[in-house]
Amino acid sequence: MAFDLVVVNGIIVTASDVLPLGIEIGIKDGKISCLGSSLPRDANTQIIDAKGAYVTPGGVDSHVHFAQDNCPTGDDFTTGSRSAIAGGTTTVLAFASQEKSETSVIPVVEEYHTKATNQSYCDYGFHLILTNPTPEIMQKEMPLMIEQGITSVKLYMTYEPMKLGDSELLEVLMSARSLGFTTMVHAENSDIISLITDRLEAAGHTDPYFHAISRPQIAENEATYRIISLAELTDSPILIVHMSSEIAVKHVRKAQTRMLPIHAETCPQYLFLLSERLKGSHHDAFEGAKCVCSPPLRHDPKDLEAMWRGIANGTFTTFSSDHAPSSYDHPNGKKLGLKSGIMRYRDIPNGVPGVETRLPLLFSYAGSDKDSRLGLQRFVQLTSSDPAKLYGLDGTKGNIAPGYDADLVIWYPEEDLKDGVNIEQKMLHHGVDYTPYEGMKVKNWPRYTILRGKKVWDRDNGGILGGMSDGKFLKRGKGKIVVGKTGGEVNGMLAGERDYWV
Ligand code: URP
Ligand code: ZN
Ligand code: ZN
Ligand code: ZN
Repeated sequence: MAFDLVVVNGIIVTASDVLPLGIEIGIKDGKISCLGSSLPRDANTQIIDAKGAYVTPGGVDSHVHFAQDNCPTGDDFTTGSRSAIAGGTTTVLAFASQEKSETSVIPVVEEYHTKATNQSYCDYGFHLILTNPTPEIMQKEMPLMIEQGITSVKLYMTYEPMKLGDSELLEVLMSARSLGFTTMVHAENSDIISLITDRLEAAGHTDPYFHAISRPQIAENEATYRIISLAELTDSPILIVHMSSEIAVKHVRKAQTRMLPIHAETCPQYLFLLSERLKGSHHDAFEGAKCVCSPPLRHDPKDLEAMWRGIANGTFTTFSSDHAPSSYDHPNGKKLGLKSGIMRYRDIPNGVPGVETRLPLLFSYAGSDKDSRLGLQRFVQLTSSDPAKLYGLDGTKGNIAPGYDADLVIWYPEEDLKDGVNIEQKMLHHGVDYTPYEGMKVKNWPRYTILRGKKVWDRDNGGILGGMSDGKFLKRGKGKIVVGKTGGEVNGMLAGERDYWV
């Protein structure tokens, strides 16, 4: 049997290994069918000569916001997924978002399917944002969702229109425990933020910079500790999304050393950007709005360092973009923060773009150079294999091994790019009008992105080669626990005490 595609002369990197130079990848019908040497080829076999290049599994970005009603000037599936493949991401997990007034999630999911079907350049799945988890939804609809391959939910502890109280959080965690879906949580204390915001506003402090003042680390710290406690009580695994503060991450680390199944995520903005960016430029003080996201950028470089440590030492299971952009120069985008006639941060839509720059930014620090901060295997774990496992794509995505989808990123040696790549808005493929990483240099950029055996991105020859129907909906299985285990004991409870009531 000859292969459709053989990738030769590369250095294959997986979550566990950096294989010796020259092992070939044989691809047939969109799947990796074997690794070996001198693989059979015939006149119809396409060859990619990855001479000396690292070959990593396609990126899995497990946290992107595409086509959500609350980001009308952000990316839809077409622009968002196009941006994804240009940066080496072949799978995105986006959100289907319930509004509080909606008493069924079935039409919500149908709506997002309509928004994505035949509009995506990369493979995609959905997490369900639950803002009104009624007993009907949890008992009757969640089993259906799982059957349909939507095996994870996101819960908010903040944002007035979305937040859940502790009793609702507990109900969802108990349901997750029995049904086996994965629970993501946005952990910030809502009342702390409201109190400070009202008082800042009364004092006239409403510039974008005060967004960071209004959401102090203690708000993330408290909510993080609280949701870990609720997860411990209910013996339910969670993933805390977009973590930004050292004090909050310490709770995660401590829980992990007790073997609790507490996972955490951080994002590029919390490795690279500080809150001074919210002050804007001397040309335009409002420009700080470009960097308004929640949790906010932090003040102290020590927090960036702490996130880097969590990246390197295994505290974080996923490194996702939280791509949640709004256009800057648009009356319904970031400029909503000027609608009252003054700069008012609470009117600025939250979120930054980042789906395209996620892999190149982290890859610049991966490897064994003196300035590297993580190994290549760790890079693969964080950006691809671990989110695939956690969200039920194990066996399909996140690995270069027989049976997996042939999703690959090929990074030619850095010398090919001479002086690295300067990130500029004009080279990106998203639908918004800026990048917070403008002018930042990365060492490398994916030369090829391959989605199920098809070359969909060629940096030097045509750019985007894929099409809007290349991306398929991923019917996911139940997620695996990557960190810790269930069945542990609860601090302060007698062994077995929980068995009386769960
Ligand atoms: O600022 C952010 N991250 N906005 C997107 C929504 C969310 O909380 O993930
Ligand atoms: Zn969030
Ligand atoms: Zn200037
Ligand atoms: Zn988000």
